[in-house]
Amino acid sequence: MDIEKLAGIARKLVADGKGILAADESSGTIKKRLSGIGVESTEENRRAYRGLLFSTEGVERYISGVILFDETLRQSSQDGIPFPAILAERGIIPGIKVDKGAKALAGFSGEKITEGLDGLRERLAEYHQLGARFAKWRAVITIGEGIPSDFAMKANAHALARYAALCQEAGLVPIVEPEVLMDGGHDIDRCRHVTAAALKHVFSALFDHCVALEGMLLKPNMVLSGMDCPQQASVEEVAQATVRTFRQVVPAAVPGIVFLSGGQSSELATAHLNAMNAMDQEHPWQLSFSYGRALQEHALAAWGGKKENVSAAQKAFFKRARLNGAARYGSYRPKMEKEAA
Ligand code: 13P
Repeated sequence: MDIEKLAGIARKLVADGKGILAADESSGTIKKRLSGIGVESTEENRRAYRGLLFSTEGVERYISGVILFDETLRQSSQDGIPFPAILAERGIIPGIKVDKGAKALAGFSGEKITEGLDGLRERLAEYHQLGARFAKWRAVITIGEGIPSDFAMKANAHALARYAALCQEAGLVPIVEPEVLMDGGHDIDRCRHVTAAALKHVFSALFDHCVALEGMLLKPNMVLSGMDCPQQASVEEVAQATVRTFRQVVPAAVPGIVFLSGGQSSELATAHLNAMNAMDQEHPWQLSFSYGRALQEHALAAWGGKKENVSAAQKAFFKRARLNGAARYGSYRPKMEKEAA
């Protein structure tokens, strides 16, 4: 394992003013997103949509890496240039989602375990050959009555650590993603408690599996009120609770924390990240973004599956990337939402 090389890639992914685009929706998820705008999920439509994102002019100023799905890593632009090459040419690092999805955890009602470890070593070798330099594995933790169980958190942490160790062996930077879902009526304090517990299990497992923390990134949820909680925490409260929680459980050796958006509106996801970076204190890690929906929802709506809307969709994507780039410096202001793309 070449730790220096891995650490260099990880640092590039959280370079100043930049973050990651998660465009790795699985076949089921992209079908849902496309049907939301009345577009059929054919291979050609998926290629056209992802292609418009990747060829958005100037977006490399704010986007350091893109997480792709297996199909997308193997697709090419209309002129026949493979997507990983299109990204790499512009200094954007191609990444790949390698988990096979969260499935029901037998014996633990309402809880999930992520699958995909079998054959992973061989898949990682191929992904590296195809140009990927980092990977993602998402574990799902659900808050509900009596859950999450300690066992489900441990089982997911174990899988994340096995994945991370295999990635580093293959020369890929692992993005370790334990997502505590925001679904439910719980308050922010419950989210804080569960997030801290899940992360403690994750870092304990990473230590046991000899994962080099300098050569990985953490992709967590922010500490938020549950979506159905009547008492929604303010932007400032979310920022304070999130940073405080992570200071307690995330080692300073981790170069960056790249948040998922998890169902927050695009504007709130940007405002929350901004508030963390605007704090009057230095953080031990870079605080950045690895958003899927919060970078794409406006672009997807503007596109609507029509060729004549490609430029409007690219403008919408560029704008979200730029505003999140500003949030990396704490210099985003809500009034920037009204300015032209
Ligand atoms: P969202 O930002 O839409 O939550 O997606 C990020 C992601 O990659 C989830 O695995």
